[in-house]
Amino acid sequence: MTYPVDMSITPEVSAHFDEATNTITYMVKDPNSDHCAIIDSVMDIDYAAGRITYDAADALIKEITDRGLVLDWIIETHVHADHLSAAPYLQQKLGGKIGVGEKIMVVQETFGKVFNEGTEFQRDGSQFDELFKDGDTYMIGTMPAFAMYTPGHTPACMVHVVGDAAFAGDTLFMPDGGSARADFPGGDAGVLYDSIQKVLSLPDEMRLFMCHDYGPNGRAIEWETTVAEQKANNIHVGGGKTRDEFIKFRTARDAQLAMPKLIIPSLQVNMRAGEIPADQDGNPMLKVPINAL
Ligand SMILES: [Fe+2]
Repeated sequence: MTYPVDMSITPEVSAHFDEATNTITYMVKDPNSDHCAIIDSVMDIDYAAGRITYDAADALIKEITDRGLVLDWIIETHVHADHLSAAPYLQQKLGGKIGVGEKIMVVQETFGKVFNEGTEFQRDGSQFDELFKDGDTYMIGTMPAFAMYTPGHTPACMVHVVGDAAFAGDTLFMPDGGSARADFPGGDAGVLYDSIQKVLSLPDEMRLFMCHDYGPNGRAIEWETTVAEQKANNIHVGGGKTRDEFIKFRTARDAQLAMPKLIIPSLQVNMRAGEIPADQDGNPMLKVPINAL
């Protein structure tokens, strides 16, 4: 696959860091128009209380409305397991199309079973407005963007590239953070390594924006790096580490990781494009499957 890289376009990128989940949401704006996109939004949840709020999404909505911008796209790089998406709330307030990788269907099939969803839960990706295939292009105002299929962390992961900016989703973390885990159902360390190589085959000067940062070894939170920096310094894949070395390391490391705190609510909501499921009477309700993950 040859991707339509165009380093001559420099989108304006603003980052919103969510402290509760260490997620970075991006607003990507066309420098030549008022159009923008949001990548990986966050809906706030107090899981212990079963309470949902929209502080993070409201901050984004304020930025976009204060500046008089038009929201073209609400992109999910993948079905996140560590935070809930605010995509439907943003769409209701601002419009825009919700897009995700077409392999969402595989994720819906897997977790439809885990959560014992009935036939009313469609496994065809129809909850989303757009299902991206590898190399699919779309427009943010006058800027062309494309989706790059990067499975491994999940089967539906995509990296989105807009001009000289790539949104890495959960493939790479900052160079001192390494890479995303590959042990969720449908994950695969070798496949993740191959996807990371695809990302690293983008131009050296490509700006890379991470979806998460945990501030390893006490450093301040960061989210922006470049392909060249990752190739040279990434602790999991930099400096020419081989596929076998990566698989061995990643598999051993993943075996020691606990499940993300919000995996149970996140999957149920995010596999529905951010909609909260309802019980048979139509009340918003989440399930907790026992010993199923
Ligand atoms: Fe993730």
